Amino acid sequence: MTKITIVAFDGTRFDIEAENGSTVMENAIRNSVPGIEAECGGACACATCHVYVDPAWAEKVGAPEAMEEDMLDFAFDVRPTSRLSCQIRVRDEFDGLVVQVPERQA
Ligand code: FES
Repeated sequence: MTKITIVAFDGTRFDIEAENGSTVMENAIRNSVPGIEAECGGACACATCHVYVDPAWAEKVGAPEAMEEDMLDFAFDVRPTSRLSCQIRVRDEFDGLVVQVPERQA
């Protein structure tokens, strides 16, 4: 298990014990984090699971792959640290990861 934090747009922090191998999106849905819609169920085909990776974590989490980057074009208010949370898979090195939910999805 890896501890991650998802911060809702209103500032509410969701501290989650996430299973390694699960995605940040799956953990958001399981914990009813508001603002993560994940309409496509994690297929990288909707851009409604958009999050901002905390700047301190951006390098470790890495940049999106080409398909995700194309999908991010449809997200609202994309920033350099934007990622689709269904494409971030939890692993040991992400212990303490913080991501933030944007004001709204696409
Ligand atoms: Fe649809 Fe992530 S859940 S792109």
